[in-house]
Amino acid sequence: MADPEISYFELQAYVGTTKHMGGFETTKALIELCHIGKDTYLLEIGCGVGATACYLAKKYGCRVVGVDISEAMIARSNERAQREGVEDSVEFRVADAQDLPFENALFDVVIGESVLTFIKDKQRVVGECARVTRPGGYVGLNEELWIETPPAPMVEHVRHIWDIKPDIPTLEGWMALLGGAGLRDVVVRTYKFSTRRESSQIQRYGFQDMWRMFYRTLFLYVKNPTFRKYMAGRRYLPKDLFEYLGYAIFVGRK
Ligand SMILES: C[S@@+](CC[C@H](N)C(=O)[O-])C[C@H]1O[C@@H](n2cnc3c(N)ncnc32)[C@H](O)[C@@H]1O
Repeated sequence: MADPEISYFELQAYVGTTKHMGGFETTKALIELCHIGKDTYLLEIGCGVGATACYLAKKYGCRVVGVDISEAMIARSNERAQREGVEDSVEFRVADAQDLPFENALFDVVIGESVLTFIKDKQRVVGECARVTRPGGYVGLNEELWIETPPAPMVEHVRHIWDIKPDIPTLEGWMALLGGAGLRDVVVRTYKFSTRRESSQIQRYGFQDMWRMFYRTLFLYVKNPTFRKYMAGRRYLPKDLFEYLGYAIFVGRK
C-alpha cells in the first residue's frame, strides 16, 4: 500500500473493510424501507468493499450494480463477489456518484451508505441518484448529520480524523437536498451513536474479514512509522462528539 497518509479510503481498501455509522443493523433498516425484493434492480453508490451489494444479491437474489470512485475499492468488491459466489448477480464499476454512467430511470432502487457526507456537491449526487431511479422507485441514504450545531473545534477535529472535507448537513439540510431532487414521501429515521449498533459491523463482515482487518492494521502499525503517526493524530475523539454527531436514514420516492 502507498503512504497511508495519502488517503483514509486507500487505507480502508487495504485492510478490506469499509464502514458507515450504524453498522449492519442500519443497513437492514435501510433495505427494509427501500422495499427490496427478488425482482429489484439496485444501484449502490460508494459501495466501498462491496459488503452491502453482495449481501443484497445473496439474501434477495436481486441484481445489483455497485459503483465507487476508488479502483482499489472496486478490486476488493470483485474479490468479495467471487468469494461469496454472487459474481453473476453483482457488477462493480469505477464511477463518480456525481456523474453516474447510466441512463435515466434504469434502477428500481438506488442506495448509498455514508458516501454523500464525503462529497461537496451533495445536491448533484442526490440529483444523479434520482435521475437513474425509475418513477415510483426509491432512493435510500444513510448519512451522518449534526444533531445540534457543534463547536467549531469539533468540526475541525472530525474533518481531520475521518477526512470529511465538506460540511456535514443537519436534518433540515438533508431534507432540503432530497426535496431539491424532487423526491417525495421521504421517510426519515435519525439515530444517535450506539455501541451495540456499531458492533453489528462484525456480523456484516464475519470472522475472516475482521481477522484480516486486524492483522493488516497490526502489520502496518508495527512496520510503518507513517501509519503510526497517522494513527497517533486520530487516537482521541472529541469529548461529547456523539451528543452532536449522529446519522439518519432517508428514503424518498421518485
Ligand atoms: C465511508 S465509505 C462507505 C463505504 C460503503 N458504503 C460502506 O458502507 O461500507 C465511503 C465510500 O464512498 C466512496 N466515494 C467517495 N466519493 C465518491 C464519489 N464521488 N463517487 C463514488 N464513490 C465515492 C469512497 O471511495 C468510499 O468507498
